[in-house]
Amino acid sequence: MHPMLNTAVKAARRGAAVINRASFDLDRVIVNEKDHNDFVTDVDQAAEQAIIEVLSKAYPDHSFICEESGASANVNDETEFVWIIDPLDGTTNFMHGFPQYAISIALQQRGVVTQALVYDPVRNDLFTASKGAGAYLNEKRIRVNKLDRVANALLGTGYKVGSPAALHEYLKMYGIMAERSHGVRRAGSAALDLAYVACGRLDGFYEKGLKPWDIAAGALLVTEAGGIAAEFNGETKYMESGNIVAASPKVFGQMLGLLAEFA
Ligand code: IPD
Ligand code: CA
Repeated sequence: MHPMLNTAVKAARRGAAVINRASFDLDRVIVNEKDHNDFVTDVDQAAEQAIIEVLSKAYPDHSFICEESGASANVNDETEFVWIIDPLDGTTNFMHGFPQYAISIALQQRGVVTQALVYDPVRNDLFTASKGAGAYLNEKRIRVNKLDRVANALLGTGYKVGSPAALHEYLKMYGIMAERSHGVRRAGSAALDLAYVACGRLDGFYEKGLKPWDIAAGALLVTEAGGIAAEFNGETKYMESGNIVAASPKVFGQMLGLLAEFA
């Protein structure tokens, strides 16, 4: 394993210890609402601090973009090393004791994500990928499904409360995709949804309005597992737009076709 990915694993396990400890006593978790139905807990913050502590100790010169504490000063696409962190993707699930959430850590080098980790502390599923070196689940190589028809696919999606127009679009997309596949799951952690595409538990995923920390690690997992990740119009700037479709190559093409009116 690449040494920087190895350090990320250490950091994720430290974050997971914070999350697991808190999961035994959810009544004590302190919840704040950042926006309507957009929550942060003291556990998100403590896990993020634990992760940053490990990474910044190992790499004092590296920069950070984190869901809760924000970005280091002057980070841009030329910055040599940037860690992109979501300490608890699926905060709402966590708050309710619904066991579907994950830690997401990616390393971006001069604008390109090169290392990725998504860790599910409930199932102890550790998904990792290094650019050009494949994707792994608990150190076993993973590949996207070979499925060639979206009609036989199980898909994932997500939605963060937004404008009435965004809700209308989400519901319309949901109707089309649910009709044309085996089904669409809205499990509540985009990072984990993408990891599931990488290992074949899902055949495809789509969502609009995501943030870089929701996508960065999961997208590299998918591409290193032989899949495709792109925007709804097929362009590659999903980290900027937050709009992503990810799937095995054949299913991906058919998903883009079905989602064309939303590109
Ligand atoms: C959210 C989850 C969810 C997705 C939302 C994200 P959070 O992240 O990934 O699945 O639908 O768009 O914001 O807030 O739980 O870290
Ligand atoms: Ca998130």
